[in-house]
Amino acid sequence: MNDMMSSDSSAENERSGIERLRASINYHSHRYYVLDDPEIPDSEYDKLFRQLEVIETQNPDLITLDSPTQRVGGEVLQNFQSVRHQLPMLSLSNAFSSDEIKEFSLRMQDLLDNAPFLIVAEPKLDGLAISLRYEQGVLVQAATRGDGLNGEDVTHNVRTIRSIPLKLSGLDYPQILEVRGEIFMPKNGFAALNQMQIKKGDKPFANPRNAAAGSLRQLDSKIAASRPLDMFCYGLGFVENEHPHSPVEKTHYAIIQQLGHWGLPICSEVKLLEDWHACISYYDSILSRRAQLAYEIDGVVYKVNDISQQIKAGYIARAPRWAIAHKFPAEEALTTLLNIDIQVGRTGALTPVARLAPVFVGGVTVTNATLHNQDEIDRKNVRIGDTVIVRRAGDVIPEVVSSVLSKRPEHTQAYLIPQHCPICGSLAERINDEAKSRCTGGLYCSAQRKEAIKHFASRKAMDIDGLGDKLVEQLVDAEMIHDIADLFQLSKKQVSSLERMGDKSAENLVDAIESSKNTSLARFIYALGIREVGETTALALANSYKELTAIQAAKIEKLQEVSDVGPIVAHNVETFFAQPHNIEVVEKLLQSGIYWPEVQSKNINEQPLLGKTVVLTGSLSQMKRNDAKARLIDLGAKVSGSVSKNTDMIIAGENAGSKLAKAQQLGIEILDEQGMLTLFNMQES
Ligand code: IVH
Repeated sequence: MNDMMSSDSSAENERSGIERLRASINYHSHRYYVLDDPEIPDSEYDKLFRQLEVIETQNPDLITLDSPTQRVGGEVLQNFQSVRHQLPMLSLSNAFSSDEIKEFSLRMQDLLDNAPFLIVAEPKLDGLAISLRYEQGVLVQAATRGDGLNGEDVTHNVRTIRSIPLKLSGLDYPQILEVRGEIFMPKNGFAALNQMQIKKGDKPFANPRNAAAGSLRQLDSKIAASRPLDMFCYGLGFVENEHPHSPVEKTHYAIIQQLGHWGLPICSEVKLLEDWHACISYYDSILSRRAQLAYEIDGVVYKVNDISQQIKAGYIARAPRWAIAHKFPAEEALTTLLNIDIQVGRTGALTPVARLAPVFVGGVTVTNATLHNQDEIDRKNVRIGDTVIVRRAGDVIPEVVSSVLSKRPEHTQAYLIPQHCPICGSLAERINDEAKSRCTGGLYCSAQRKEAIKHFASRKAMDIDGLGDKLVEQLVDAEMIHDIADLFQLSKKQVSSLERMGDKSAENLVDAIESSKNTSLARFIYALGIREVGETTALALANSYKELTAIQAAKIEKLQEVSDVGPIVAHNVETFFAQPHNIEVVEKLLQSGIYWPEVQSKNINEQPLLGKTVVLTGSLSQMKRNDAKARLIDLGAKVSGSVSKNTDMIIAGENAGSKLAKAQQLGIEILDEQGMLTLFNMQES
């Protein structure tokens, strides 16, 4: 009898211990995956998890459906079961303009008998709709939307998504709760997945939505488990037996917050708004931040907030009257590839540019798109005459995604980049496995000269006000200038003889050229256009050598001691100054009166990072990356791109990934963005 009692109570202990352990794991995984705010290090979390695994292996009868160990995947289905949704999954009507949103608002006003109403605005997530069913707080089913009435049971895959709780938090949830939302793949996870696909020789996914859908439509849940899927909840389905002390809230906004309290993932961009004007501002704000969001969206959704008002407004066909999607302009469109032109860059690189029949995409009319290089043309299999898919996402430069082969006209030919420069006729070569062919004409090639002069005059270089691309082309074509040094010989009279150039503009230009002579050593080096010497490298060279003559005389090995300078850059600098022609141009420039103040030597107090190698990773929110880099260099640091045992410090911005992990592993000093700013401020005060 005694024995029985003790074994009973030890089983009881085991059970409550395991429950406590699960609750703790659930708590920490919610903090990590949903709130993005972990409380304990990963290693501690892993320890808890392993502890639970051990106990469950020893007591298999204690394994429950909602145990966090049941997420790892492994269940393989023979086929998908169809699920009839207890309440249909609806779709949304679309709007594409502010006028349509105003009309929506007026319609609501009418339907609601002029009663005031609030609107909830939320991102329209570009993933796939899902319905989660919780019974007694435990996830029992997850189904895709399907045709809205019947979907597919994908529970085995959805259980592997870490941000979706297997068990709801708290005790005040309804006994049956269906939650609707969107499953998606975050952009960074998508990029990493595609990189891996390519590495494995598998086909990359076209976009995060396809990748998310493809991951959920797998019979083997191990595949979904390995994919970076996430979810935001945006509404309710069927609900039964609400908690007596905590009934389901009566406004959409409060429901979303309530879902959050039960541990479900909700989107932080959901906002409660006063009227349709606020909706338009919300739309503009989200559209301008679209590229920075961690996930893809294709518009925003507005919903009447009050549930009783929603009921009053009602439904048409399969969509609610009380909600509308305000879509972003389409980012992909079809057009014809009329021709492929070759552009010659400053360093002679030949870039094929697609000339397209004008097409409205991503909110603008597109007529050109880069095709990058021969390999890209081959990979995308594009030919002149093809119908092509053009994509323009956010502020990103438009690109040709692929050809529509079924629409290919007869007698087209594969396109080959010419073997001679189309501008100067010199041989074009692909050297050292480079993706691009380059014109070997050097400064004989007028295209390269034009680009070199444009770069020299640009804002971050000599900053010659008013000397735009068109004007440079005119000046070179009229043979008034052949190289950058010739700019300083230009007279007002010459300039004013150019087409469409008035006396006043000519005078302004000559004045701007004159005042650009007062510059800095860093700008001057950058302006020379040495390959791969960007502004920060130029600054590092200037700070370290202080004199142009010292840089000119420096050998490869010495150059590499400078922060930001690796073997390739060092080689480029050395070969640049070994060319008699370049020396001549530099001499000419200096003779024309270009000057800069002496570069000050800094003392150790001003250069606290002297001799330190620093790696910048993740994204910064308060400062441009290049500015931060320049500032670090200014403080004496060598800024490197990769973490090794020689790294002294890493600056980890938002979403820092493998470099941060490696730094942690190597025990390297880690500063976050705030820490970096403090360091900068300390130097200023
Ligand atoms: S609400 C009752 N909210 O858009 C209205 N849908 O075009 C049901 N979607 O199938 C949908 N983000 O997959 C709603 N914040 C959001 C959404 C959203 C994305 C998707 C959803 C739906 C489709 C309708």
